[in-house]
Amino acid sequence: MAAKNVKVNLPEGTKIPVHIGMIMDGNGRWAKKRGLPRKLGHREGAQTFRTITRHAKNIGVKYFTVYAFSTENWKRPADEVEAIMDLFEKYLDEVRDFIEENIRICFIGDRSMLRPVLQQKMKSVEEDSRDFKAMTLLIAINYGGRDEIVHSARMLAEKVKAGELEPSEIDEKLMNDNLYTAEMDGDIAPDVDLIIRPSGEQRLSNFLIWQAAYAEYYFTNILWPDFKPKDLEEAIIAYSDRHRRFGSL
Ligand code: FPP
Repeated sequence: MAAKNVKVNLPEGTKIPVHIGMIMDGNGRWAKKRGLPRKLGHREGAQTFRTITRHAKNIGVKYFTVYAFSTENWKRPADEVEAIMDLFEKYLDEVRDFIEENIRICFIGDRSMLRPVLQQKMKSVEEDSRDFKAMTLLIAINYGGRDEIVHSARMLAEKVKAGELEPSEIDEKLMNDNLYTAEMDGDIAPDVDLIIRPSGEQRLSNFLIWQAAYAEYYFTNILWPDFKPKDLEEAIIAYSDRHRRFGSL
């Protein structure tokens, strides 16, 4: 089913966040409420993912990062993990629709533990969309914020070991430039401006912990499969009304 294209409806002068992070939470509860298996919640959540990604682009968001699977999600029952991985595979074929919309697709996280066929498809989608400029969609799979920081530290340690870098040269910029969000062929995602978490939970859950140092947070009780384009607009309006000081007055 094609993602719906919904008209953007934001008040004149709304500040649009450059980078939004979305924690797609509540699929399981959505299914449970209807007496359905959890995997049907994920299926519905995947539809919402398409509609909301498209709407974010239409609004003018430049980087949209979705938390699809965390380093901790492997602890779920094997059949649920399997169902989520099947969905990713299916969507990686369909995600090509986004390419037609000028959306660049990148993946962040440790891919080495994913099925080889999935890794192959991820690589090919990244290659085929690399020149698209309307928005960059970052899909976090087997992603953990702490794991990402460890990854960056390791990359820098390797450079020190090779004699290419002095420990005293390591600063915030170098740490930042070796995160997964910087591994986009020369493009580096800026810090995240707004993190949205539906489903009533008010936690970051290891998502973009480095990049979210100055982020604004928006929580709503709506479960992810019920999240609509107007809910994204409400979050952006709330963000636009806030005064970000970045430590100054
Ligand atoms: C959290 O809900 C959701 C996940 C762990 C999986 C998210 C996956 C998708 C939305 C599928 C499609 C994604 C792509 C990129 C194609 P939960 O299971 O933790 O819900 P609960 O808290 O209600 O149990």
